[in-house]
Amino acid sequence: MTALSELIDAAARVRGNAYAPYSGVAVGAAIRAEDGALYAGANVENAAYPQGQCAEASAIGAMVAAGARRIREIAIVGAGAALCTPCGGCRQRIREFAGSETPVHLCAPEGLRRTMTLGELLPLAFGPDNLAP
Ligand code: THU
Repeated sequence: MTALSELIDAAARVRGNAYAPYSGVAVGAAIRAEDGALYAGANVENAAYPQGQCAEASAIGAMVAAGARRIREIAIVGAGAALCTPCGGCRQRIREFAGSETPVHLCAPEGLRRTMTLGELLPLAFGPDNLAP
C-alpha cells in the first residue's frame, strides 16, 4: 500500500463513523502530518445546525491534540457526483497548518478523483504570516 492510498483509506474508513443524520452527507478527512503520522476525522452534525463540524476540522483537531502542527498532505472523501471539495471555512482551517503547495486529495469512496494544491483552492490566502509586523 502506498503512503497516498493509506491516507485515502484512513479518510474513507473514518467517513464510516461520520455523524450526519441531518444532511445525510458523510465526509471523512485524513491528514499526513510532517512527522509522518496520520490523523483522521469525520463530520459531526448537530440538531442546532450551525454547530455542526466538518470532517477537516475534526482531523485538524486530532492532529493538534496529538501535538503535531504541520500538514504534509490531506485527503477528503465524500460520495456523490460533485467533487467533494473542502468548504471555504475548511480551506482557511487547512491554511493555518499548510502552505500553498500542500496537496489536497479530493476523493470518492472508490478512491482518488483529483489532487489540487491548497494554493489553487485558496489563492492569496490570509495566514499566520499576515500577522507578522
Ligand atoms: N462537510 C464537511 O465535512 N467538509 C466540507 O468541507 C464540506 C461539508 C460536511 C458538513 C455537513 O455535515 C455536510 O458535509 C453537508 O454540508
